[in-house]
Amino acid sequence: CGIVGYIGHRDAYPIIIKGLQRLEYRGYDSAGVALFDGSDINLVKTKGKVEDLNNKAKTISQKGSVGIGHTRWATHGVPNDVNSHPHYSNSGDLVIIHNGIIENYESIKKELIKRGYSFISDTDTEVLVNLIEEVKKTEEVKLGQAVQIALNQVVGAYAIAVFDRKKPDEIVVAKLGSPLAIGVGEDEFFIASDASPFIEFTNNAVYLEDEEMAIIRLGKEIKLRKIKNDAVAYPRILELQMNLEEIEKGGYDHFMLKEIYEQPRAIKDTYRGRLLADQGIIRMAGIDQNLEKFMNANRIIIVACGTSWHAGLVAEYIFEDLARIPVEVEYASEFRYRNPVITEKDVLIAISQSGETADTLAAIKLAKEKGAFVFGVCNVVGSSIARESDAGAYTHAGPEIGVASTKAFTTQITVLTLLALKLAKEKGTFSQTKFHEFLTELETIPDKVEKALESNPLIEIISNVYKDSTNCLYLGRGYNFPVALEGALKLKEISYIHAEGYPAAEMKHGPIALIDDQMPVFVIATKKGHYEKVVSNIQEIKSRKGKIIAIVTEGDEQVKELADHVIEVPETLESLTPLLTTIPLQLLSYHIAVMRGCNVDQPRNLAKSVTVE
Ligand code: G6P
Repeated sequence: CGIVGYIGHRDAYPIIIKGLQRLEYRGYDSAGVALFDGSDINLVKTKGKVEDLNNKAKTISQKGSVGIGHTRWATHGVPNDVNSHPHYSNSGDLVIIHNGIIENYESIKKELIKRGYSFISDTDTEVLVNLIEEVKKTEEVKLGQAVQIALNQVVGAYAIAVFDRKKPDEIVVAKLGSPLAIGVGEDEFFIASDASPFIEFTNNAVYLEDEEMAIIRLGKEIKLRKIKNDAVAYPRILELQMNLEEIEKGGYDHFMLKEIYEQPRAIKDTYRGRLLADQGIIRMAGIDQNLEKFMNANRIIIVACGTSWHAGLVAEYIFEDLARIPVEVEYASEFRYRNPVITEKDVLIAISQSGETADTLAAIKLAKEKGAFVFGVCNVVGSSIARESDAGAYTHAGPEIGVASTKAFTTQITVLTLLALKLAKEKGTFSQTKFHEFLTELETIPDKVEKALESNPLIEIISNVYKDSTNCLYLGRGYNFPVALEGALKLKEISYIHAEGYPAAEMKHGPIALIDDQMPVFVIATKKGHYEKVVSNIQEIKSRKGKIIAIVTEGDEQVKELADHVIEVPETLESLTPLLTTIPLQLLSYHIAVMRGCNVDQPRNLAKSVTVE
């Protein structure tokens, strides 16, 4: 979910609506806004997108320079008008927006019902706002204190903002688990899940830490407090260096397409300043300062979710192949709950674009408790995972807005390749000549990605042929097996076509039964990397009349003979092929989704950043 709030001298409504639109990547099942017009609260909410909210809001007064807004990804209760935020307390004095989950809400709800409270929604949030109201009444405390006492009774995760119409110069916010940033302007404050809603108004921001709350009062400094023990923390005002243009579409029809095309630049930004090919070195502060941890590691455990997990799989091949360190790759959600064996000699690498994925964050905490060294690979600077890790490396891909991850994936692979190369060199598993060859080749990748993007018109034609398919299969071997998984995920996510990724040889053990003349099979068949084996697999598909779309190395003749379509990518080292073979598969799913009339940037039911487990 995403939250936005404003208190100051401007009209709050346009700031909140625009802010919510920027945060829609966090969820878009429903949206709502509450505004204080000087005497009363006007509240409107609806199932659907921020655009639907904006239409519905025409029925209320949009006056007021205080307000809070929310865009929701449903956890408790179906997405409908009633379950949307903000929620009122029973008296109608308090309104709240909440991102996260209150786990013990049922028992609190029962207690509140006994005390005469009633509830109109199924949400945990409505329980929380009434708990705050009850505390405020019975303990006769101010709003800030009531929030604090109430939060000490709840179990769960949250980022909240609460407003009291009897105290209209104040908003109280608190955070545990979900992100919350406060933008500090002149006589005005902004509240949001990340800085994008207020970056055009101020560069100064305070990021709340877990278990912190803030009392934001007009004409006063922000008061920061620890939720658990009343200790006062001093606002740490950060200066942000984010640029608004970066978060807008820049001439492309969709963020996803823009982000696909940004990859040559993004990959370059990832290795800029780190890869010094002429000097034959890789410089990465997070590793340089913790080199023994990696050198002495028994093994590396990689945890991640979704596309980031696929980047982890590619990394497994790279680490084992180049640096000869054993690697395990795990879904964060499985790892955290299966009582894993973790020792102080393990290095855990957590990969996350957003740096906010709840399961990945929990996996880190678990590994840290057991004494492992945690290295984070995140895109969002200052994100929860980045802060929670012992050390890390940012991907520097720039904001990724499209829900289907593209440039985050290739830049994650780039960072992990740098890491593996550095360790390979330190461990001596790699000759200096080979190391050099690698560095030089890595520097050619942005141009080669650019070249791969030139196939876009051909890919559009191919997309048109297969856009009405109901099932697709993606096959690859070795380094390109994770690419097959990622290709299938991209198609599923945005076009809603069922797709499966498989190791090409495993096809014989099941999926081959599905192949007929209706089944498109996307095969990654680049020259380096088990080429002859993949060619045999292609033959197996062909003899069952499957349609073959192959991603091949420039100039390939053999596969061209067999396949229905071929898409070429430039030649590179085997371990770097995923950075190129991914590109046509991203474009394919993009075009197919557009042709099917799907909402590419905001596919149904998905969220960009999954802050609930
Ligand atoms: C969601 C997104 C995916 C992403 C995954 C992991 O499911 O829709 O695109 O790969 O979360 O997110 P993270 O931010 O941790 O990389």
